[in-house]
Amino acid sequence: MKSFVPSWPASFLCAHLLVSIAINGLHADLEPNKLKVEVYYETLCPDSMRFIRNQLYRAMIDDSLLQFSELVFIPYGKVGSWTDPSTNVTNLYCQHGRKECELNALHACIVEHNTIREQLDLITCLLNGYSTDIDVCSQYLNIDVTEAKNCKATRETNEILQKYGNMTDAIEMTFVPSVGLGGVFDPWKQRSILYNFPRTFCRKYREKFDIELKNC
Ligand SMILES: *[C@@H]1O[C@H](CO)[C@@H](O)[C@H](O)[C@H]1NC(C)=O
Ligand SMILES: *[C@@H]1O[C@H](CO)[C@@H](O)[C@H](O)[C@H]1NC(C)=O
Repeated sequence: MKSFVPSWPASFLCAHLLVSIAINGLHADLEPNKLKVEVYYETLCPDSMRFIRNQLYRAMIDDSLLQFSELVFIPYGKVGSWTDPSTNVTNLYCQHGRKECELNALHACIVEHNTIREQLDLITCLLNGYSTDIDVCSQYLNIDVTEAKNCKATRETNEILQKYGNMTDAIEMTFVPSVGLGGVFDPWKQRSILYNFPRTFCRKYREKFDIELKNC
């Protein structure tokens, strides 16, 4: 009887270790490989609105590809800039005017303060119209946008947009929207990505990870 007692803490410890190893193994199996998807877009560009609403959102949500994606929104697009030499103040000229710069900055604040699922829902909702209100989307989707709104209200638009401008300048973008897949921006694949996003995503996923997703 006495000899049995010291043996149980040891066997308890062992069982505990086995359980945690099993859980770690399970976790590794459940966390899928993620393909990077970089979406370069403009908030007032009809093609950007269409692509995000129809192709991207459906693939990510309806086909459940979001769990296999590292999705990155880059709200900037075609922007000209001019620095006044007398003041050193830089002015940005967005393709669809000043209002677009402001809206791009609002989207950038959402990117910085909300989860990727919230970003996808909010951005898709905002792109339903040219002046869809963030409060309407926030209420409809039940997503907290306090931090995103605070970011937009307290920071300079140019400063908010600089990071996205740099990311956009780094690719050879000829039209908007443009999409990078797997960390690569291929200007020759844009048509197939924009008009057949799910299939192109699946092909790239298979190429990169040698895995055929059942969602494909
Ligand atoms: C603008 O920047 C340049 C280079 O940094 C500097 O030499 C110049 O004095 C600045 N001008 C003003 C008005 O601040
Ligand atoms: C963007 O690029 C400019 C010029 O290279 C650099 O000075 C600036 O720090 C960059 N900004 C961000 C936010 O990455």
